[in-house]
Order: sequence, then C-alpha cells, then structure tokens
Amino acid sequence: MSLAPVLPDGWTLVALDSVGSTNDEAARLADAGAPEGTVVWSREQTGGRGRRGRHWASPVGNLYTSTILRPDCAAPRAAELGFAAALAVADIVPAGREVRVKWPNDVLVDGGKIAGILLESAVGQSGQVQHVVAGIGVNVGFAPQLPEMRYPGSALSGSVETALEKLAAALAARLAEWRREGFATVRAAWLAKAGPLGAEVDVKLGEGLVRGRFAGLDREGALLLETASGPRRIVSGELLGRAA
Ligand code: BTN
Repeated sequence: MSLAPVLPDGWTLVALDSVGSTNDEAARLADAGAPEGTVVWSREQTGGRGRRGRHWASPVGNLYTSTILRPDCAAPRAAELGFAAALAVADIVPAGREVRVKWPNDVLVDGGKIAGILLESAVGQSGQVQHVVAGIGVNVGFAPQLPEMRYPGSALSGSVETALEKLAAALAARLAEWRREGFATVRAAWLAKAGPLGAEVDVKLGEGLVRGRFAGLDREGALLLETASGPRRIVSGELLGRAA
C-alpha cells in the first residue's frame, strides 16, 4: 500500500475515494470555514468539471485535486492565481521534457496537454475574494484522448501520491512568491515558459475567432495580440493554435 502524501507545513489533506467534483467539495469546506491549504484529493471524480462547462474525464489513475486559497485580494486579481497554478504544474514536470504554458492556464508537455486548471472564486459584497478553489487535474497514469480536446494528451509517470506531494509543494511556493513579489514576478516566469512573441495564434471568443500574433501578457493577465486591424487585449477566451 502506498504512503499518504505529505503536504507543506500547515496544509491539510482531505483524501476521498470518489466524489462528484473536488472543486465542489473544496467550495463546500471553504464556505464552512476551512483554512487556506485545505487540499481535497479524490482517486476518481464522477462529475469532474473543466472550463467553459466541459466535462473532465476522471477515472482512477490520474490526479484530481482542489486546494482552498485565501488570497485576500480584490476579485479581478484572483485570476493571477491561475498563472501561478500553471507554473506550479510546470514545476513538477521532470527535466528533459519540453514544458510550455498556454494562455490562460494550460500546460503542455512535449506538445500534449498534461493538466487542466479550473479556478473558482467566492467574492464578498465588498468585492474582496473570500476564497479561491484551485482545481487541478494532472495526467499521471494515462493521457485521455477525447474528441473535444484541443491538443493531444500527455502524462507524467510515477504515482499519483508523489505527483500530489510535488504539486502541493510547488503550489505553496508559487503562492508565497505571488504574495511576496506580486504578479510581475509570476507574469515574467509565465512568459518565459510561453510560446515566442510574434507567433501566430487564434483565440476563440464565444462563437467568434480572432487571429493575430502573440504580443505578451499585460499586468492584469490579459492576452495581448497584434491583429491585422491593430492591437487587441483579450480578457477571456481560449487560445487555439500552436504557440503561447
Ligand atoms: C480544463 O478545462 O482544462 C480544466 C480542467 C480542471 C479539472 C480539475 S480536476 C480537479 C478539479 N475538479 C474538477 O471538477 N475540475 C478540476
């Protein structure tokens, strides 16, 4: 039998065999007052959720985890934590494999999507964030190849327990960095792992598509594009195509 994963000091593990969605369970615990660093981990999810209402296939064998964060910031800044979470995933990829981050929160390894990140926040009446649930699914044992996926999948090797330990440590470190140095440092680290400036990209905006060249990330985490009709700043959308 494998040993229970060890989490960073002060963090607590809630380990489950099966749950609908670890994000829902973490939100329920956060609403009941659970502190930052409460990590919900389930061997499988029966209703795993992805971004934009998509399903996240969650059979036993991969990592499904949601961490309660209490960043004490105004609502618009919560999205910055998605970049920190993507970097934390990139941090646990073994040396020798090619890691790229893709706006806003995808992580590709050797060209294949290795993880999905779903950030969900509760905001109080003052506009201050009460909690953020950082839901992260990492392919460890296998790479699901679903027709709706925009990239082929890829997977880490090793055990789910080891991946969880490493991910929690990396997330705690990236969160501390965000608190200590602000988004500028996270943004610079993210840009260093993104595709090259000037690369051609397509961004899906609702039903429409915007085509342009990747021009970076602004101070709020919005995607900057140079399009045929001039510069564009994109706050929410989905990047298709090869780079950035
Ligand atoms: C994406 O669409 O890429 C995001 C997928 C996020 C999946 C993770 S698995 C753990 C947590 N619980 C969920 O229901 N979703 C997230």
